Amino acid sequence: MTFDEMVVSRRSVRQYNDREVEKDKIEAMIHAAIWAPNAGNFQVLRFVAARDKGTLEKMKMFSPGMPRTAPCVIAICADLGEAEKRGGEFAKKIVPFDAAFAAQNMLLKAHHLGLGTCVVKSYNEKSINRILKLPGEVTVLLLVTVGYYDTVPEAPERKNLSEVLHYESWESEMRRDEQG
Ligand SMILES: Cc1cc2nc3c(=O)[nH]c(=O)nc-3n(C[C@H](O)[C@H](O)[C@H](O)COP(=O)(O)O)c2cc1C
Repeated sequence: MTFDEMVVSRRSVRQYNDREVEKDKIEAMIHAAIWAPNAGNFQVLRFVAARDKGTLEKMKMFSPGMPRTAPCVIAICADLGEAEKRGGEFAKKIVPFDAAFAAQNMLLKAHHLGLGTCVVKSYNEKSINRILKLPGEVTVLLLVTVGYYDTVPEAPERKNLSEVLHYESWESEMRRDEQG
């Protein structure tokens, strides 16, 4: 698959089959996450991979937007204590960006390995922290469901370049270079 095919064919998968996600594949995803850009290279992200059915059921109770059949959920968490130590308030504020970059690397790695994923932000933070037994200064920033799937979801529509891209300033004619 070319890079563009990889990027365009990745989908949010919300229906998984029963096949277990292997540890080496989880670790390959986390390896990709570790190499994502991160503010100041402070490296304050931590990850919890949950595959235990009881844990997953509890997480689903506090995450209405989580795909119900997910056999694995990876919580992208931040150690805010470490962030404060390394870069003060700035480092604490910027961690959601780190999580987003890490997530995208994880999603693409999973796709490359034949796994489906879905980013999930609809959850109760305190409850997820409690269920995963995160220590005091560690908090969840994003959840990523992971699993094998039988059916590829249809691609939701995307805007095209001319609807989103300006050159030089907002006021310039959009995509003037292509319109001649
Ligand atoms: C920050 C963020 C939060 C999201 N939260 C949820 C969620 O809670 N539940 C869900 O099913 N999908 C969630 N998604 C997935 C989006 O709905 C999905 O990416 C979008 O519809 C485009 O579909 P695609 O990923 O297949 O291209 C989230 C995506 C992002 C980036």
